[in-house]
Amino acid sequence: MAITLTWTGHATWLVETGAGTLLVDPFFDECPTACMKAAAVSCDAILVTHGHFDHVADLVSIATRTGATVFCNYEIANWLAGSGVKKTQPMNLGGRVMVPGGTAKMELAWHSSSLPDGTYGGTPAGWMLDVGGRRIYLAGDTALFSDMARIGPGGGRRLDVAILPIGDLFTMGPDDALEAVRLLDPVLALPNHYGTWPPIAQDAAAWAARVTAAGRSRGRAPAIGERVVID
Ligand code: NI
Ligand code: MN
Repeated sequence: MAITLTWTGHATWLVETGAGTLLVDPFFDECPTACMKAAAVSCDAILVTHGHFDHVADLVSIATRTGATVFCNYEIANWLAGSGVKKTQPMNLGGRVMVPGGTAKMELAWHSSSLPDGTYGGTPAGWMLDVGGRRIYLAGDTALFSDMARIGPGGGRRLDVAILPIGDLFTMGPDDALEAVRLLDPVLALPNHYGTWPPIAQDAAAWAARVTAAGRSRGRAPAIGERVVID
């Protein structure tokens, strides 16, 4: 079964699994590069990596309007309850849950996490999606860490896609992301969390070419709004 990945800008993704659409880290209306507005988004579930503004800015509005269940850590679920969003699945690192089209596991990430109003946001995370017969890893905001060598090949089958930050400054930059690809060993590597503002500008096409040149994985830098079909 084919699944479709659409980068809508920054670290926000729509994943069409064949059984529904997953929205990851909703950041639209105040994202300078977003290809759509929050009001236009439809989804069946929302997955959150951590509480920073550039990952949750449109979380409450989209969750409220769509009624989609929000999968997030316990602290963010509490914060959402205070904003009137009750349809949440609180969880924590290592946990796996059913989502439309398969499962999602909350993976490690090395970063920080506070919510826009200063509330403690719990531990940041990445997501391992086993959906539509494909295995997709979204690293979230993270530095490079050696457990990627477990996260990638550790699932009993090769990763189909790894989505990695390359912006540097707040996350790993291009060189560490290249090493992350080596550890994760995905079939396809896609960059995100770059180019949204000048301090995280990067040449993503050049990075993707370096990934491909390394010989194991294929790099690709999708345009914002481009639909990437994984079949
Ligand atoms: Ni962050
Ligand atoms: Mn971020």
